[in-house]
Amino acid sequence: MTHAIRFHRTGGPEVLQWEEVALPAPDAGEVRVRHHAVGLNFIDTYHRSGLYPLSLPSGLGMEAAGVVEAVGEGVAELKAGDRVAYTSGPLGAYAEARNIEARHLVRLPEAISFEQGAAMMLQGLTAHYLLHSTYPVKAGDIILVHAAAGGVGSILVQWAKLLGATVIGTVGNDDKAAQAKALGCDHVIVYSRERFAERVRELSGGAGVAVVYDSVGRDTFLDSVACLQRRGMMVSFGNATGPVAPFDCALLAQAGSVYVTRPALFDYIATREELELRSAALFEAVGAGRLRIAVNQRYALKDAAQAHLDLEARRTTGSTILLP
Ligand SMILES: NC(=O)c1ccc[n+]([C@@H]2O[C@H](COP(=O)([O-])OP(=O)(O)OC[C@H]3O[C@@H](n4cnc5c(N)ncnc54)[C@H](OP(=O)(O)O)[C@@H]3O)[C@@H](O)[C@H]2O)c1
Repeated sequence: MTHAIRFHRTGGPEVLQWEEVALPAPDAGEVRVRHHAVGLNFIDTYHRSGLYPLSLPSGLGMEAAGVVEAVGEGVAELKAGDRVAYTSGPLGAYAEARNIEARHLVRLPEAISFEQGAAMMLQGLTAHYLLHSTYPVKAGDIILVHAAAGGVGSILVQWAKLLGATVIGTVGNDDKAAQAKALGCDHVIVYSRERFAERVRELSGGAGVAVVYDSVGRDTFLDSVACLQRRGMMVSFGNATGPVAPFDCALLAQAGSVYVTRPALFDYIATREELELRSAALFEAVGAGRLRIAVNQRYALKDAAQAHLDLEARRTTGSTILLP
């Protein structure tokens, strides 16, 4: 037996329950991982609330780091004692230990701690694909990153600076503004009190930005499109304020023949090759100290409900981990 957070109905953080669950020997192709740290991500709140539907009852969580305890039949690439991390597979990372198919796991280099691994697999691989594949950022690009002091935002800002971009970040308050500046933002807009679309035009000399990375969703979508330069790219990759409302695609022509995409990480790590390539780039940048993973909040795993409350109330910055 082991313990895990599970939920039997969708709703607020109060639906999360700490339960004893069975942990059988791993099946063929599976590995049992003892978690040392579990990642908290905004998508966990969409699963819990029902925004992203799933069958119930369910486990929760998409990301963790730990040690292989046992391997099932046919697993040749991993053995007991290996340090690993993952960010895909069925929900269920909010657990002391679990079985998961070996194909989802990557080896964690010695230079990367379990806490860093759990904090950065989902958010760091997301930052990698957004900046290198969805819209490949070039030196000299001016870009806009919303929620710049958040989990994904903190990594996006640092990595975009490494690529030579001028980064405008938005944040919800002055403390976060100071953090975003320290991460490398060239300009920070407190969008809770400033009109960010107007400020972005001013800061870009009237031209607009090459790309907007928008994870805020409903409340920022239209103003974000208005920030783009001619033929710029609107990357709508999250719904912190709710899903984006349907819109008339003539808007894209009016905004300067701009592009809109709504990407999801799992389409950018769909093959083993892509998962390994992006993970290697992330581990290299973090291991070499060029990217800093800010683990700013830690909670006991059984207190996941409190972590959800804080994340949804905009009280967290950087990454958050849950400790079994
Ligand atoms: N598509 C993908 O592949 C992918 C992958 C990973 C994450 N995401 C998305 O990226 C976003 C960031 O994820 P994360 O885990 O790193 O979370 P996070 O950025 O650490 O937290 C969300 C942030 O959004 C901002 N926000 C603005 N309005 C909000 C509201 N009404 N309620 C809550 N937050 C609000 C807050 O920052 P301020 O106070 O500064 O506004 C808050 O800190 C999420 O939307 C997530 O779904 C998408």
